[in-house]
Amino acid sequence: MSDAVLVIGAQSEIGQSLIAKVIAEEKTSQVIAISRSDCPNSLASRVLDEARLAWMRCDYSDEQMKDVVERCGALLAEKNATLSRLIICNGRLHDSTISPEKRIEDLDRDTLHAIFESNAVIPALWLKHFKGFLKAHLKGRIPAVVAVLSARIGSIEDNGKGGWYAYRASKAALNMLLKTSAIEYQRSLPELRFIAFHPGTTDTPLSKPFQRSVPEGRLFTPDFVAASLLARLSEALAVSRTSASFVAWDGSQIPW
Ligand SMILES: NC(=O)c1ccc[n+]([C@@H]2O[C@H](COP(=O)([O-])OP(=O)(O)OC[C@H]3O[C@@H](n4cnc5c(N)ncnc54)[C@H](OP(=O)(O)O)[C@@H]3O)[C@@H](O)[C@H]2O)c1
Repeated sequence: MSDAVLVIGAQSEIGQSLIAKVIAEEKTSQVIAISRSDCPNSLASRVLDEARLAWMRCDYSDEQMKDVVERCGALLAEKNATLSRLIICNGRLHDSTISPEKRIEDLDRDTLHAIFESNAVIPALWLKHFKGFLKAHLKGRIPAVVAVLSARIGSIEDNGKGGWYAYRASKAALNMLLKTSAIEYQRSLPELRFIAFHPGTTDTPLSKPFQRSVPEGRLFTPDFVAASLLARLSEALAVSRTSASFVAWDGSQIPW
């Protein structure tokens, strides 16, 4: 029986580093990657054992999510693999039409909907669609962990600066959706752990326009963050506690 890692939002630079790292360092792990797009060439060239990477396209509609869950089940059965880690990377901060709000006058209905959709609604729907599969697949087996890529800025208690309304609030919503589903999952699937993970400022397209103010030594590479995330996942698998935790790249706890 081999081990499997599922990475959703796999175009994420952090997600790509995670995939490359798992395939390079865990010789028996199978990785399933789910994304709106095809596997980027930059990742394909880093993955030497391509038989251990299954890339699935998904437009994140309910129909395609259900289909992907079924395909994941079939693949794990075919590979005789057990899922140990499920990581949801999706997150959106800016694009050609969206930038984080500085003042409440900047709030825009469509932007709020769009940011909440990709940062909170889509991850929560994955937790919904995977529930039946996880219950059947994991029952009585070794612990597994679900992680969402959150952000410290989503901590309500830690909000001393204000601004970035949509992104900040969508990550707070993501955290609450995760914590609430962890409580429900715990009743029927105590083998499952839940983490909201803060990667720290990482050199990816998401943070590119905002990197100038990052203090020296605090802009991380995706490879460094992928290693931190894998360490946090291992720690979560080793403890018996099943309630969700909000944890930073260095293992420190963040107040919800
Ligand atoms: N970089 C940082 O400094 C930083 C700091 C704190 C938290 N984070 C969080 O870390 C996670 C990974 O970010 P990254 O830095 O690796 O960024 P990235 O390379 O820009 O990745 C973007 C991610 O968001 C998804 N995405 C983008 N637009 C979307 C849309 N319209 N609908 C659904 N999904 C969409 C992509 O999924 P597809 O594979 O489907 O394209 C991909 O998973 C995010 O949740 C981000 O909020 C990053």
